Amino acid sequence: MRAVVPGSFDPITNGHLDVIRRARVIFDEVVVAVGANSSKRYLFEPAERLALVREATADIEGVTVEPLSGLLVDFCRIHDVGAVVKGARAATDFDFEVGMARMNHSLTGIETVILPAAAQWSYVSSTLVREVATLGGDVAPYVPAVVAQRLATRRAHD
Ligand code: PNS
Repeated sequence: MRAVVPGSFDPITNGHLDVIRRARVIFDEVVVAVGANSSKRYLFEPAERLALVREATADIEGVTVEPLSGLLVDFCRIHDVGAVVKGARAATDFDFEVGMARMNHSLTGIETVILPAAAQWSYVSSTLVREVATLGGDVAPYVPAVVAQRLATRRAHD
């Protein structure tokens, strides 16, 4: 079965990569869907978020990356996806994910698998990575190398 790991990936972190790799252990193929939550503002443009996810996952066999616009359930139909996989770091993530999982299930019957974030990455979020990076901290331990490089270039030019 093919699964989707959707998110906004602003930017992709090592925690996201861990969830993508673990999803690939469970499912034959994984499509990473790079979308946007309409209530959030983003640091990186959609095309750049997509490119960074593509570079960061290029070496993982069975993983592809596609843009997500519109409903996730429509994306699943178009891409022949049978399940959604999301990571949850803590109860707040879990509550949010359960709400979306129930709505998606209600819309088309699609199931969601929620993976507990690895303890190692449980405090790593895109929001904190953006904050640390924009204030000059070193985020290399928390993100793929391409993202650390991109954040450093961006800070140098902004
Ligand atoms: O990284 P995020 O902010 O958790 O990603 C959220 C995302 C993009 C996965 C979510 O907003 C989403 O699924 N958007 C697609 C639109 C949609 O289907 N919305 C209804 C979800 S119940």
